[in-house]
Amino acid sequence: MTAGSAPYVHPLPEIDDRRFRDALSHFVTGVVLVTAGARPDERVGVTVNSFTSVSLDPPLVLFCLGRRAKSLPVILSNRAFAANILGREQRWIADRFSLGTRSWTGVETATWVTGAPILVDAPAALDCVLQATHDGGDHVIVVGRVVRLDADDDRPPLGYYRGNYVGIDRRKLPLRG
Ligand SMILES: Cc1cc2nc3c(=O)[nH]c(=O)nc-3n(C[C@H](O)[C@H](O)[C@H](O)COP(=O)(O)O)c2cc1C
Repeated sequence: MTAGSAPYVHPLPEIDDRRFRDALSHFVTGVVLVTAGARPDERVGVTVNSFTSVSLDPPLVLFCLGRRAKSLPVILSNRAFAANILGREQRWIADRFSLGTRSWTGVETATWVTGAPILVDAPAALDCVLQATHDGGDHVIVVGRVVRLDADDDRPPLGYYRGNYVGIDRRKLPLRG
């Protein structure tokens, strides 16, 4: 039996798209620039907030990418991607790459193992080989195995909440009392 034919809710109700998006916007996330393309002429970047960790052993992460995203074929053909966790000062990168890959001007990158662009100023970056893809409705669930990573404790993160970017001040993070 597939999940869609579970007997408990039948027939499956229609969920209003706008209310669905609104409810999900209450979930606070970080913002990640997923990059791919070992060849300079094929490099792509896409802003995502569907990124999450999956497994510690082996070290797996995932994100969900729209089936029609132009970056998807590059990730699939390279069988690799990098997940660059964006910092508070990198909102402009999130903005730029939420419109598709247009320009890398001003974006300083390096390459590690897979050849996917690594943002040198990001709070954390994870170089990944493609582990698996799964059906995710109108998105593809892309699972990567981390092959190299780096993190810098001094760079505060960029967050996303209710349709807006939010800066997170590390000193104010722990809720006390
Ligand atoms: C904060 C934010 C988060 C986003 N998260 C996702 C995501 O998780 N998955 C996705 O497919 N698109 C997401 N998008 C939209 C993509 O960034 C956008 O569709 C992009 O143009 C796709 O580029 P491409 O078609 O060149 O791959 C997000 C956009 C923003 C601003």
